[in-house]
Amino acid sequence: MRSNLSDSFGRVMRDLRVSVTDRCNFRCLYCLPETEEAADFYRVKFDALKNPSPPTPITREWKPRSQILTFEEIERVVRLAAQLGIEKVRVTGGEPLLRHGLESLVARLAQIPGVTDLAMTTNGFLFPQKGRTLREAGLQRVSFSLDSLDPANFKRIAGRDGLRSVLASIDLAQELGFRPVKANAVIIRGLNDHEIESLTDFARQKNLSFRFIEFMPLDSGRAWQKELVVPGREILQRLQARFDLQPVKSSNISETAKRWSFADGRSEIGIIAPVSEPFCGHCNRLRLTADGKLRTCLFSLTEHDLKPLLRGGASDGVINERLQEIVRQKEERHHIGEPDFVQPERTMSCIGG
Ligand code: 5AD
Ligand code: SF4
Repeated sequence: MRSNLSDSFGRVMRDLRVSVTDRCNFRCLYCLPETEEAADFYRVKFDALKNPSPPTPITREWKPRSQILTFEEIERVVRLAAQLGIEKVRVTGGEPLLRHGLESLVARLAQIPGVTDLAMTTNGFLFPQKGRTLREAGLQRVSFSLDSLDPANFKRIAGRDGLRSVLASIDLAQELGFRPVKANAVIIRGLNDHEIESLTDFARQKNLSFRFIEFMPLDSGRAWQKELVVPGREILQRLQARFDLQPVKSSNISETAKRWSFADGRSEIGIIAPVSEPFCGHCNRLRLTADGKLRTCLFSLTEHDLKPLLRGGASDGVINERLQEIVRQKEERHHIGEPDFVQPERTMSCIGG
């Protein structure tokens, strides 16, 4: 029998997210805000007007090139993980399209036996230049971040004037035959929660699979407060008041989104509520960071460095055993909202969604 990556709670890993860079060309408030002021939505909203101060840049260090896994190293980890039952692979960042030659990595990953689903999450800014070669390289699915349809609000959230490019990317992805084309919005109270309905109208117009995501405490500005989270239930109630939604049954218990379809079959929405309705009990995901650390949870406080093995001549067998041993230590659940919660040092931009 083929061995699996199973943890001490009986969960079997099927999904590996691979971050290919910790860099990003956007500065989303909920992920990688540019300034201290931008990091603190409430301070900006209520106090900055009274007491304007020059923006204080947040200093950050990108990982040096030598610490970032090469394509060969990434391919090897994915191949070994696939031998142990990983089926879904998602390429993430930072912004994955900033990694030079990404299409050649995608082509390598697409060849790996056992990888049946190869997807990418991107902010979409560089996709117009790269979409076609990525599709030809074997990328099957793509998800874009789309938090606002208003150019000014988009810029406020993403820190860059990128709405037009992202919209062009969504059209191009449809044309290139990615199915379904997905888009995600992180909903933050007071920032873009007034756009829930218009984003849904847009999803229907473009026939997108659209995901609303609760704001999680993974922002580098550490501005997260539970008051900023719009609970999934509230998003659903808002949508039910406007649209005739029908629940979509799923055969995959590890799915993070609760999905809803519309009577006319156009588009589908999903609500991802990790904060208010955790789905840790069915989690089957692992994450590989750009610098070669395996993380067993988004909120892990420890990570497992594979680089010494990869660069130290370890055999496939040794690495396979290490992967199994790491997965056995996967934590049971996250502790967001509990008194003992500690935000991990590594932020979303260095983990990948
Ligand atoms: N909370 C929820 N989702 C987040 N993302 C990034 N930061 C956060 C956060 N703090 C998601 C965005 C993005 C993907 C890469 O990760 O949806 O599209
Ligand atoms: Fe925004 Fe994604 Fe870049 Fe984070 S990694 S700043 S969510 S575009």
